[in-house]
Amino acid sequence: MYRGIYYQIPKVILSSMASLLQMGSPLIYSNFLVKTIQRPQSFTCTILAKTTPGGESPVVPRRSAKYQPSLWNHHNLLSVENKYTNNKSVRERDLLKENVRKMLNDESTTHTEQLKLIDDLQKLGVSYHFEREIDNILTISYQKDRRNFTEYTMEKDLYATALEFRLLRQHGFNVSEDVFNVFMENCGRFESDDINGLISLYEASYLSTKSDIKLQKFIRFFAAQQLRDFVDTNGNKDLASCHIVQMVVQALDMPYYWRMRRLATRWYIDIYGKRPNKNPVLIELVKLDFNIVQAVHQEELKYVSSWWRETGLASQLHFARDRIVENYFWTIGQIQEPQFGYVRRIMAKINALLTTIDDIYDIYGTLEELQLFTTAFENWDVNRLDELPEYMRLCFLVVYNEVNSIGCDILRKKNINVIPFLKKSWADVCNAYLVEAIWYKRGHKPNMEEYMQNAWKSIAAPTIFVHFYCVFSDQLSIQVLETLSEHQQKIVRCSASVFRLANDLVTSPDELARGDVPKSIQCYMTDTGASEVKARVHVRQMINEMWDEMNYEKMQSRSSVIPQEFVEAVMNLARMSQCMYQYGDGHGSPEKAKITDRIVSLLFNSIPLD
Ligand SMILES: *[C@@H]1O[C@H](CO)[C@@H](O)[C@H](O)[C@H]1NC(C)=O
Ligand SMILES: *[C@@H]1O[C@H](CO)[C@@H](O)[C@H](O)[C@H]1NC(C)=O
Ligand SMILES: *[C@@H]1O[C@H](CO)[C@@H](O)[C@H](O)[C@H]1NC(C)=O
Repeated sequence: MYRGIYYQIPKVILSSMASLLQMGSPLIYSNFLVKTIQRPQSFTCTILAKTTPGGESPVVPRRSAKYQPSLWNHHNLLSVENKYTNNKSVRERDLLKENVRKMLNDESTTHTEQLKLIDDLQKLGVSYHFEREIDNILTISYQKDRRNFTEYTMEKDLYATALEFRLLRQHGFNVSEDVFNVFMENCGRFESDDINGLISLYEASYLSTKSDIKLQKFIRFFAAQQLRDFVDTNGNKDLASCHIVQMVVQALDMPYYWRMRRLATRWYIDIYGKRPNKNPVLIELVKLDFNIVQAVHQEELKYVSSWWRETGLASQLHFARDRIVENYFWTIGQIQEPQFGYVRRIMAKINALLTTIDDIYDIYGTLEELQLFTTAFENWDVNRLDELPEYMRLCFLVVYNEVNSIGCDILRKKNINVIPFLKKSWADVCNAYLVEAIWYKRGHKPNMEEYMQNAWKSIAAPTIFVHFYCVFSDQLSIQVLETLSEHQQKIVRCSASVFRLANDLVTSPDELARGDVPKSIQCYMTDTGASEVKARVHVRQMINEMWDEMNYEKMQSRSSVIPQEFVEAVMNLARMSQCMYQYGDGHGSPEKAKITDRIVSLLFNSIPLD
């Protein structure tokens, strides 16, 4: 296995960037992180006095997770300037865009060349400018294939067949895995020097659904084996084959289809730039566009960072993770295009509030307090704020105000009252957190099924998507809202499960040491008596199965009322969690898990234009 050795973001934390990061300097801390002074240093049990609603002040033993303070300095974030915010860059970009559009519409290019271009546009992060054209080309391609399937596949090589299959499925067209039959018959005498064909085949195999036995059981395995052999023989060769080896190693580390889009884009821009036959207009467009979009993201980050400071939650709740930059980073994983800034700003707030509430349940609150907290979300009654322990009041009130303010916006713009759905989603997630707190308190060890039934909700994805749908969708459907609210959207459950399982694969040792409920790995070990190694293999297999189901749902959704872009955003949460938890707990310990480097490369380092 080639897990994680080559996948490196260029480590260019420029000197000006260093000031953004706290870098452990006490001087910078004092600007912003007052709470570091109050932070208890002990690891396990911290005894803190608190005032109960009754007024007496008993000493309550509390846990601490000893989370690192925020790595980012708010004031320095605010002072980030970006030269790509001007209209001149945008005008330049738009001219380049029209040139690329001509390439896409050029009738003289072959079909395969068109598909290659679409693939590059997607990987380079600029396909959002050409959605209509791309959809047209793929629709025609799908209809042609269906008219005479045999003729159409016979004339194409492995690379083109697999590429077309992947692109069509990515866009929700139900193409059959039988397109690979020709190659399966021949694979005994397979041309192993067709490395591009193999990569293409390997990547396509991740678009499988449950019923695609060939793809899952045979093709993916076969292609991966061939690619590993290729790296073994060519890993140390000359520079000429270097870029292709890098591509193979990258694919084996994690398939393109599972990757956080924008991070994959950043990586691919460098790789594409080194290609001898690169398109000069295209590369100019993508670099400029990357920088322009980055400037948009930076402004949003400044906004949410200021909002977060104003809530006062980070300074009041010293035990909770102070992760506004990371919480914003998640939203880029979910939806990256510049026009969705409003969605990202709202979702970053929701993420930050969920992170805080999660820590109240997981770390700080006593069971009695947590029951009160849950009841508060169920009652949704601001008049009963004083029934809550003091430290919970601000948090509840901030959520209450945010939800009402979102509801107000949506009522104004879309004339639908979504507040009942939003507030229910908070009560639901709190109830799921409470179930875990009760399990912990009682030493209950759930079996896998019982665990997963609650765990996909306690990872907060259902709450996230109720908000996301309301804010994102122009044409709100009450029916969709209801199914989301009642946890009936299968694709959300699958994405949430990937999120949970990816998290379990890395956070288990830490959380268990602190004293947490058993996670999926432990549940499986208890259920079956399997070793931890086997349990991890099983959990990875569960993640594969969730992807198969999501792929199926994606194709189903093409003919449903759910917007395709929403479905894509749901799947993107799974991608984002696989990014956050690839090398450790990127949300709790971003630096250790290499997330800080990733954030810097996407949010702060622009791409030099030559
Ligand atoms: C950029 O263009 C927009 C609209 O096209 C205009 O409102 C804005 O004032 C311009 N900004 C600058 C700095 O020229
Ligand atoms: C499709 O093309 C193949 C090969 O050219 C041909 O044998 C077959 O009859 C065609 N099928 C239809 C339905 O036109
Ligand atoms: C795709 O087509 C196959 C064969 O017609 C069918 O069995 C399957 O259910 C379809 N999948 C989706 C997601 O509609």
